[in-house]
Amino acid sequence: MRLTDGQLEQFERDGYLFFPALFSAEEMRVLREEVPRIYDEFRPEVIRERDGVTPRTSFAAHTYSEVFARLARHPRMVEPVEQYLGEPVYMHQFKINGKRAFDGDVWQWHQDFGTWSNDDGMPAPRAMNVAIFIDEVNEFNGPLYFIPGSHRAGAIPAAHDLSTTSYPLWTLDHAKVGELVGQGGIVAPKGPPGSMLMFHGCLVHGSPPNMSPWHRVIVYLSLCAVSNHIRKARRPPWIAHRNFTPVRPLSDDCLFRSDLKALPWPGHEIDEEALRRGDGPNSWTAASAGQAASAGKTASAGQAASAGRASSADPADAREVATA
Ligand code: SIN
Ligand code: MN
Repeated sequence: MRLTDGQLEQFERDGYLFFPALFSAEEMRVLREEVPRIYDEFRPEVIRERDGVTPRTSFAAHTYSEVFARLARHPRMVEPVEQYLGEPVYMHQFKINGKRAFDGDVWQWHQDFGTWSNDDGMPAPRAMNVAIFIDEVNEFNGPLYFIPGSHRAGAIPAAHDLSTTSYPLWTLDHAKVGELVGQGGIVAPKGPPGSMLMFHGCLVHGSPPNMSPWHRVIVYLSLCAVSNHIRKARRPPWIAHRNFTPVRPLSDDCLFRSDLKALPWPGHEIDEEALRRGDGPNSWTAASAGQAASAGKTASAGQAASAGRASSADPADAREVATA
């Protein structure tokens, strides 16, 4: 899928693009049916709300779920980002945000690039989010709030909020948010399942809690230009990936094509021996923390990092670092 000149201009101005109902209801059904299986697993990649039970977000499902691996290589999601960045992209982060009915908590005002830069050593905001609505997003179930044009402010100083939610986040102060809203206002893109958003790494955004009886599942691909790969390996590998292999798009009908095998995701090959030992699919053979990208050393595209196991990391570690 290619962006038109008009869409590229709009993106430069507003910092986001919205494509209502870009995917069909049937395509979203395939993904929605997979979500409970992922959230039901108590594994380190699934972060819970403060109650310790409600799923807040799940990282890296594209490394162990076939349908999400296919979504992660969907041309309607990947190609516009490649086009905008003008080079191949790799998956920096992949998350399924639950925003569950009644219990889904707030995401405070923030920029993703703040975390990508501070925690991951990403050199420039040459990465962006592509989000897809698995459920309908309406005014009641915690839609994303964007401040149009706020990406033009660049990286804004942020504070590490460790207490508001179960998940630490680099957040912006109220005065700065007030100033930016004074200039750009707030929008909350809403639409049916299958609607897609692309937004700049410096766009200021957040979302309110979900008081409604409707879940609001949104999947985010954070795609980064390969030349702009991260230089630090501070966060767990399932949050900030160390594998810089370009994402190769599949065919447009890939969500229905169970014959297409998108797994193993490069760099996350399942360790068959660990599986036999009963360690489960958490056991990755590559891309462990602190190895591929430590001390500014960079793994080149396509190069598998040395052996390591994500499952051996303490889930609490994931809570000590910011998400975005
Ligand atoms: C949300 O899903 O509501 C926001 C998540 C994020 O900004 O990372
Ligand atoms: Mn964010």
